[in-house]
Amino acid sequence: MGTSTDPPGPSPAPFRQDIPSLEGEIYMQTFAAPGAPRQNPITLVRGEGMRVWDDQGHEYLDFLGGIAVNVLGHCPPVLVKAIQEQVATLIHTSNLYYTVPQLELGKLLLDHSVLDKVFFTNSGAEANEAAIKLARKWGRLHRNGAYEVITALNSFHGRTLATVAATGNRHYQEPFDPMPAGFTHVPFNDLEAMRAAVTDRTAAIMLEPILGEAGVIPATRDYLQGVRRLCDEQGLLLILDEVQSGMGRTGTLWAYEGYGVEPDIMTLAKGLAGGLPIGACLAKEHAAVFVPGDHGSTFAGNPLVCAAGRAVLQEILDQDLAGNARTMGGRIAAGLRELQSEADAGIKEVRAAGLWTGVEFETEKATDVLNRCREAGVLVNKTSGSAIRLAPPLIVTAEDCDQFLDVFGRCVTP
Ligand SMILES: Cc1ncc(COP(=O)(O)O)c(C=O)c1O
Repeated sequence: MGTSTDPPGPSPAPFRQDIPSLEGEIYMQTFAAPGAPRQNPITLVRGEGMRVWDDQGHEYLDFLGGIAVNVLGHCPPVLVKAIQEQVATLIHTSNLYYTVPQLELGKLLLDHSVLDKVFFTNSGAEANEAAIKLARKWGRLHRNGAYEVITALNSFHGRTLATVAATGNRHYQEPFDPMPAGFTHVPFNDLEAMRAAVTDRTAAIMLEPILGEAGVIPATRDYLQGVRRLCDEQGLLLILDEVQSGMGRTGTLWAYEGYGVEPDIMTLAKGLAGGLPIGACLAKEHAAVFVPGDHGSTFAGNPLVCAAGRAVLQEILDQDLAGNARTMGGRIAAGLRELQSEADAGIKEVRAAGLWTGVEFETEKATDVLNRCREAGVLVNKTSGSAIRLAPPLIVTAEDCDQFLDVFGRCVTP
């Protein structure tokens, strides 16, 4: 376990029941098998900055950040203040009314991206649902009823029926077959395969610029630029799913900036409100084809989540946290590559995009590394039996990176 220190402020009393058995009793079994622990069998009760504490008072350096969500770290004062003020002012109204936080967040997103219009959602899957609906409507209006969306094998776009059908991984789809029609999957980073998959029925190509759930696998520059050209030649929409890659994670505010490619539609979620549930589907004018009645959501874009999103995005811009992601990401990647040169570390590949890193091992040792890291007071996660993913908050410092590298180095060697 990590250093046992007192968490800042009062801590809730430890939860005294056997939690894995309680899990089997009360939850649908989506995160752990009956009686088995979750990937990290600890109960977190408090967080501050880069650190969280469990109910036993153990401290952890958080190098996962709620899977790329806690971009400003845990309970950052600027976010706490924004939420506290908004929660005491106006929480929810429905989209039958205008609210200032929603207008301001929308304006901020559009002012700092190449997109022209926004539709707010509650999650990444819903943002992608909106994008898929836009593509279908656009195909109906502008491409003779074309409705298919081509996506990449090993992609991840969400868990709703349409987004799981878009996701290029049979594992997530099979229990729910038959999948909704209208999706084709091709190998990632293979422009010829993409070209060959385009037909009269194709309305859009939807890609993550960097495959996140597959273990942080970046598109090559030639590939993404080639896909953009293909869309232009064939008259297709390019949808970039920046749910995980957006908000400064890769060292630019949006990953597309690093590729010199502009999407017609971009989807966001995860870090957008620093931990409150929000998503957004942004589109260029020509692709923003919804009309009243086409789409909607009860909670989406409510004043509380939008006030949080506004505070988070403003802080990322004001503090140049994308710049910090570049610098600190470089430090982590350099340290990991040094570690890779030590034969007994067993590291096959280090894949990095700003503060987003995949470490591929030569053997199936990711679970062991993850457990050892946690016991040494560092939280990471695994995307497969052989790959660890890091997505620390964008506020990470050089000292945090060095602490991480020190612990990780000890946990990968036998
Ligand atoms: C690239 C990408 N798209 C979509 C999603 C789905 O987002 P959510 O879990 O908020 O529905 C995820 C979640 O991991 C993701 O990484």
